[in-house]
Amino acid sequence: MAADDWASLLPRRLLVTGGAGFIGSAFVRLLLELPAPPRVTVLDALTYAGNRANLEPVADRPDYRFVHGNICDEATVEPLAAEADCIVNFAAESHVDRSILDPGAFIQTDVYGTFVLLEAARRHQHPRFLQVSTDEVYGDVPAPHRSQEGDPPRPRSPYAASKAGGEMQCWAYHETFGVPVLVTRGSNTYGPYQFPEKIIPLFVTNALDRRPLPLYGSGTAVRDYLYVDDHARGIAMVLARGRVGSAYNIGQGDEPIDGLSIARTVLRLTGGGDDLIHHVQDRPGHDRRYALDITRMRALGWHPSRDFGAGVAETVRWYEQRRDWWEPIKSGAFWDFYRRNYRPLAGAGAPP
Ligand code: NAD
Ligand code: DAU
Repeated sequence: MAADDWASLLPRRLLVTGGAGFIGSAFVRLLLELPAPPRVTVLDALTYAGNRANLEPVADRPDYRFVHGNICDEATVEPLAAEADCIVNFAAESHVDRSILDPGAFIQTDVYGTFVLLEAARRHQHPRFLQVSTDEVYGDVPAPHRSQEGDPPRPRSPYAASKAGGEMQCWAYHETFGVPVLVTRGSNTYGPYQFPEKIIPLFVTNALDRRPLPLYGSGTAVRDYLYVDDHARGIAMVLARGRVGSAYNIGQGDEPIDGLSIARTVLRLTGGGDDLIHHVQDRPGHDRRYALDITRMRALGWHPSRDFGAGVAETVRWYEQRRDWWEPIKSGAFWDFYRRNYRPLAGAGAPP
């Protein structure tokens, strides 16, 4: 089978929840660029993180439809599931810092919402259900270990626990009702169209505006940074070729990178000085290290297309050119969150 033959194995009528977010929209754009694209319906509640502008490149496609609604609402989900042959669930509250400030919404969407979707997939006997999960379910991973799919979940933040809860529902529905679930556990993802609250887009947009970069603690916590298009393609390949009942780690698989190096790289690429680095109070319960073993994805024929240097340079160029996309986002409600989250520090960069 040729390397890109996976596309012919995709389900033909997809319901993509959370498709107006960062990774979900990259997934939708990728699918609709394929030579024989499936039909795609996006269901998205358009929370603060959802943005229809992320789907503008496909907005006029006849094989694409957008539905504004909540995955927790069974009446909304039911008719959409009835006409689909697969649900791919990206919908989630996704930011760790917000889960520390307001955990309730995470339980609602990430756990209860996943249950509503599983029930719909069960009723309609979909041949596949893909849950987009995260490497955060493994919790803090001491060096030199790399998490393998069989490792036990040890989530340590409200976000990670809610994602683990959603996953547990998937495994239970697989065992008990035979729902054909697949789970992907992606690593820390970056690239175009990412809401500027996560480290890379926050640091890039702050650096472009010469605002301080708020680095948690000493900046030594490390993550496996993965370019968004690679993550999206990995999810599509698992959907096409993955073994039902299995989890798949999707990550760069290189040596994980610390926060201080991210800050310095961003400043070098944006022409800002190191004096913009602002050490701030650490995140409570901050996981020090995530690292993934990606052997299973490699066996599926997937590998990352870019190293971090190339991916981050491309990302900085995109944010330089797309102020029209991110400047409206970094306004009112964004700065309210920013002040709450970085409150204990002076001068973290929010406007007065
Ligand atoms: P995001 O926050 O950019 O997007 C989430 C999307 O879900 C938004 O469009 C939002 O409007 C929508 N949504 C939220 N609650 C909803 C609800 N109740 N009903 C319908 N839609 C709802 O997130 P992202 O970074 O694109 O992450 C997508 C998925 O991938 C999430 O499940 C996340 O846990 C997972 N993940 C993210 C990363 C990462 O680094 N960003 C890494 C691994 C896994
Ligand atoms: O690993 C996968 C996870 O990656 C996803 O499941 C989450 O949805 C996604 O948000 C991301 O979680 P992280 O907590 O790793 O991402 P974040 O960008 O928030 O933080 C990355 C690192 O940068 C972490 O060590 C904390 C640090 N950081 C983050 C922010 C926002 C800072 O030093 N300063 C900051 O302002």
